[in-house]
Amino acid sequence: MSRSSASTLTVRPARHIGGEITVPGDKSLSHRSVLFAALADGTTSITGFLPGEDCVCTMRALQAMGASIEVESKTNLIVHGTAGKLQPPLEPLDCGNSGTAMRLMAGILAAQPFKSRLIGDASLSSRPMKRIVDPLRLMGAKIEGRGEKHTAPLEIEGGSLKGIDYTLPVASAQLKSCILLAGLFANGTTSVTEKTPSRDHTERLLAHFHAPPVIDLSHDGKGKTIRVRGGTRLHGRDFSVPGDFSSAAFWLVAAAALPGSDLTITNLGMNGTRTGLLSVLLRMGAHIRENIIDSSCEPVGTLRVYGRRLRGAKISGAEIANVIDELPIIAVAGALAEGDTEIRDAQELRVKETDRIAAMAGNLREFGINVTEHEDGMTIHGGSQPLGAKVESFGDHRIAMACAILGLFSKGETTIEETGCIATSYPTFQEDLIKVATFQESGLASLLSPRS
Ligand code: S3P
Repeated sequence: MSRSSASTLTVRPARHIGGEITVPGDKSLSHRSVLFAALADGTTSITGFLPGEDCVCTMRALQAMGASIEVESKTNLIVHGTAGKLQPPLEPLDCGNSGTAMRLMAGILAAQPFKSRLIGDASLSSRPMKRIVDPLRLMGAKIEGRGEKHTAPLEIEGGSLKGIDYTLPVASAQLKSCILLAGLFANGTTSVTEKTPSRDHTERLLAHFHAPPVIDLSHDGKGKTIRVRGGTRLHGRDFSVPGDFSSAAFWLVAAAALPGSDLTITNLGMNGTRTGLLSVLLRMGAHIRENIIDSSCEPVGTLRVYGRRLRGAKISGAEIANVIDELPIIAVAGALAEGDTEIRDAQELRVKETDRIAAMAGNLREFGINVTEHEDGMTIHGGSQPLGAKVESFGDHRIAMACAILGLFSKGETTIEETGCIATSYPTFQEDLIKVATFQESGLASLLSPRS
């Protein structure tokens, strides 16, 4: 495997995926831990912080608003909290490619007594922000985006907010977190009801920072209502960020689908609102052993995956929110599995870093895979030998990494263009690929049945 320029990745077929690996820190937890620590009283030491571009944007924005953050090493930060009193930024706050940075910070800034402007790259500037603008306005916020979708730049004139009761129209942890963070600074109580569970890191980390929200489960046990009281203070408390399950997902699928492979992933975040891929892979026939070692604030454990032939599966309904970031690599698993893999109810994929349904369906076809695209997903007709291809990342880190994994199974050479975006969530992806993969001499991945 080689990277001929900063932005092109070339991958050859692999024979085996194995050994032991620890992936970089969780992206969602890195954003939240530095944000909450900066809002808290006192000092917080964060270890295992993800030095990916997305989280660095959040860290820089907080520094620009007066939070003192000592960067001891790329992954270890000491954050001196501002006790909820940020300073007006002198320049626009650049969220880069990160929807999490923009949506979570908008919730906080809506209540700060100053004007701010949130900007992002071309991809982020095309993503819908109306979903946060609507509830923040109901709370009394002055916030404005561009056009009907309220896309970035977001102009915010912070001021006093009032608590609201809000039912999420879309399963989104970013939206939920935005409202809860605004609620911490609002008058009265704010409640957010979600009918479909989304990742619960905000709820867990609020509790870790000594501000536990009140959580009521719905009668059917599926949804829940989360309440925060305005004026609740966060208190600094050291936090260790575990490895990102969504980064590990690439190796999980590679090892699970390549017969004979045996890979162990340690210090991995195993929060049940994130690990839906494990159930999907088990339905596909994978052999995985799971060991949760610590379940205090966030469950952390070890996974061992053994490779064998997979079979197709259906992924839809409430499960989608749990695997939302894993769907590109699930599509790859579908391409490698015998039979059809159907992904449905996943329209949210169309408004991620790129339209991930169109991007994956188009790229899989470049590999010679037969795909039927649906408005809300795709059906992958898998099991035949993929052919090495030249594909685009569309500036989306997860598309780039998913296609690199498919390249390990493809006949001949695969080139992915514009792979600089991988640094947003997994800056050491290439090193880790070399670490876990044993490559074949010739280009033929003999493990899959030949294309008819
Ligand atoms: C994230 C939530 C998800 C996910 C994103 C990170 C978070 O987005 O896709 O990568 O940290 O809250 P949505 O909540 O908008 O689905």
